[in-house]
Amino acid sequence: MKALILSGGKGTRLRPLTYTGAKQLVPVANKPILWYGIEAIVAAGITDIGIIISPETGKEVQAKTGTGDRFGAKITYILQEQPAGLAHAVKVAQSFLENSPFLMYLGDNLIQQGDLTYFLKEFIQENHDALLLLRPVLNPSAFGVAKLDEKGRVLQLVEKPLVPPSNLALVGVYFFSPIIHDAIACIQPSARGELEITDAIQCLIDQQKQVAACKLEGWWLDTGKKDDLLEANRIILDTQLTPCILGQVDDQTQVIGRVQIGSGSKLINCTVRGPVIIGEDCHLENCFIGPYSSIADRVTLIDTDLEHSVILQDAKVADIHQRIVDSVIGQRATLTVAPRRPKALRFMIGDDCQIQIM
Ligand code: DAU
Repeated sequence: MKALILSGGKGTRLRPLTYTGAKQLVPVANKPILWYGIEAIVAAGITDIGIIISPETGKEVQAKTGTGDRFGAKITYILQEQPAGLAHAVKVAQSFLENSPFLMYLGDNLIQQGDLTYFLKEFIQENHDALLLLRPVLNPSAFGVAKLDEKGRVLQLVEKPLVPPSNLALVGVYFFSPIIHDAIACIQPSARGELEITDAIQCLIDQQKQVAACKLEGWWLDTGKKDDLLEANRIILDTQLTPCILGQVDDQTQVIGRVQIGSGSKLINCTVRGPVIIGEDCHLENCFIGPYSSIADRVTLIDTDLEHSVILQDAKVADIHQRIVDSVIGQRATLTVAPRRPKALRFMIGDDCQIQIM
């Protein structure tokens, strides 16, 4: 069994954060989204992993993620020249996948850990041609949607339908036997110009192949938008953060609850109320850092009060005297404020922005 992670594409939905970086590398609790997927795949016992990369962000993904040693896996990077669709990515990966069954995982998805093992077992034991994971959602038009019969068999799949046939969205995790390659060879690009994996699976359904679906009970987050990213951050900090203080904390600083502070970071006269993660080499002075905040490496925060926010590496926030909430601040962004104070601040600030509130 192999795994194929799709980490190419354009990442338009997390703009402006992804103008300068891969959306799969945006951190959740200071760890790239992509790495959670790799860890879940390895935890399910699959260690031969291909990662689809794009010409724009591939080098960054490769440099950050490496050969796979850190995960106990062997990673092969596969360049997809154009984001021509999920089925196109499988086509490009054919020489890596060979005749092996495989797990396909969309690199911007996060699912509750442990779940993959169960589904992998189901796929192998039942000898399915394809196994899909589904989850009821409130906005099915934003996803691939499945229609099932009363016995739970998959009848139809539609990609981002205007009128959804059900509320069951395709989670970005699929298990395939090598027969999927024949189905992909039969399909044509969709109206949006992509080779859709949903069309290839529909082709299997039409040929009466064994296409099964399981409902995902654990949580699932498609981290494409700011609020999804904040929610993913909240859940991961809630469920996976191990407290550990490696940096320096002065006598005036109070650390309450589960807090991780990386080496080389300095906290002067701050209150930190967990769950909070602070990366390495950060400088925090006269700050309140409230629950569900993730602060990446080399961030500077002075006279700042924030909670439920994600601050990416090398950002600087100073002299903001109102609480910053529900905010994402991109890499290297700087944010300072003049003495007269507006009433409320709520931000989605991209990489390299410079903002001064007067
Ligand atoms: O998140 C679940 C949804 O993911 C499913 O419900 C949809 O059926 C499925 O098409 C997909 O929709 P998205 O709009 O979220 O797909 P997106 O374009 O964001 O791509 C998903 C991942 O695959 C992302 O990490 C980028 C990567 N990708 C995408 C394309 C189109 C590639 O590597 N190559 C590509 O050609």
